[in-house]
Amino acid sequence: MDIDTQKDFPAIKADYRFTRADEALLLTMKPELESAADEFMDGFYEFIWGFGKAGDFLKDEAVLKRHRGKVRQWYLDLFGGTYDISYFMKLYKIGEIHVKLGLPTHYVNAAFNYVRVFTLGRVNKLSHKETDLTDRFKAIERILDINLDVLTSSYREEEMSRYLSLSGIEKTLLGFLKKTSSYFNYLLAIALVMVAFFAIGLFGYDVYLLFSGQTNIEKGILTILGSLLILWAAIELIHEEMKHLRGGKFALEAFIALAIAALIRKILIFSLSPAQTMDVVLYGALVLCLALAYWLIVHQINPTKTRN
Ligand code: HEM
Repeated sequence: MDIDTQKDFPAIKADYRFTRADEALLLTMKPELESAADEFMDGFYEFIWGFGKAGDFLKDEAVLKRHRGKVRQWYLDLFGGTYDISYFMKLYKIGEIHVKLGLPTHYVNAAFNYVRVFTLGRVNKLSHKETDLTDRFKAIERILDINLDVLTSSYREEEMSRYLSLSGIEKTLLGFLKKTSSYFNYLLAIALVMVAFFAIGLFGYDVYLLFSGQTNIEKGILTILGSLLILWAAIELIHEEMKHLRGGKFALEAFIALAIAALIRKILIFSLSPAQTMDVVLYGALVLCLALAYWLIVHQINPTKTRN
């Protein structure tokens, strides 16, 4: 169970072995880090804009300006030398505001990586006369880890309170549903492997038809290409299912890609027969609709995927 951040701040400091000597050392670093504050702030926003969805939270100039001022103050307070109840209350409030905004905890963790790298680099650069910077680095690491702990404790509490507010029956039901869905997911993975084997069978059958002379060469080659396309889409689907089993999102787009592959195979075969022109047009329209659905899913639901 989490300790109460607001009341037990001495315990948090003790757990991180954050001593009075660390507090004093941080205060001595304040002037040099204050002079680097503008550079820190510019780098901070350059870093978080890279998250892709940062703009969804820092919506306009007014919010951004307010945030800039508050983060600047937070950064200077890291070296303020005073880490009392009001310091911890402020941190807790920042965490609560981020939770209320629905800011992903990953963004906060990642932003801390920037703060850490910048600060350690800066201290290393400015303290070139001093040979042993171990104590300074220890003090910085400790205060940053304490900050991260408190800032993210609101996220843990939110999760915990959501779970605790469930009744006994709801918890049992939730556990049962989680287990069942994971079993069904494994079943789905096995079924997908079977589909991949069938696709290999289809490919073998198409090769057999071609070599036994039961289809002409043109149709045979196009049919083989179509079965390879289905095999590729089935493998892609297995990959996505593996990601889903490891905790990733369900990839609807992989199923759509498989359906597109199957339709393209039909088009390849029918395109050789003038009698089936209408079928080709209909399948073409279906492919277009599915491609549109695929595009919408990839771009709208998961815009970052297209940038990578
Ligand atoms: C090291 C990481 C971060 C720190 C130290 C930090 C600090 C703060 C602080 C001090 C506040 C003001 C809390 C108050 O009003 O009492 C705040 C609010 C907020 N933060 Fe952060 N933040 C961090 C990361 C982020 C990131 C990565 C985003 C978005 C991508 C973000 C978005 C916001 C927003 C939208 C607000 C509300 C601003 C307003 O409307 O006033 N923060 N944050």
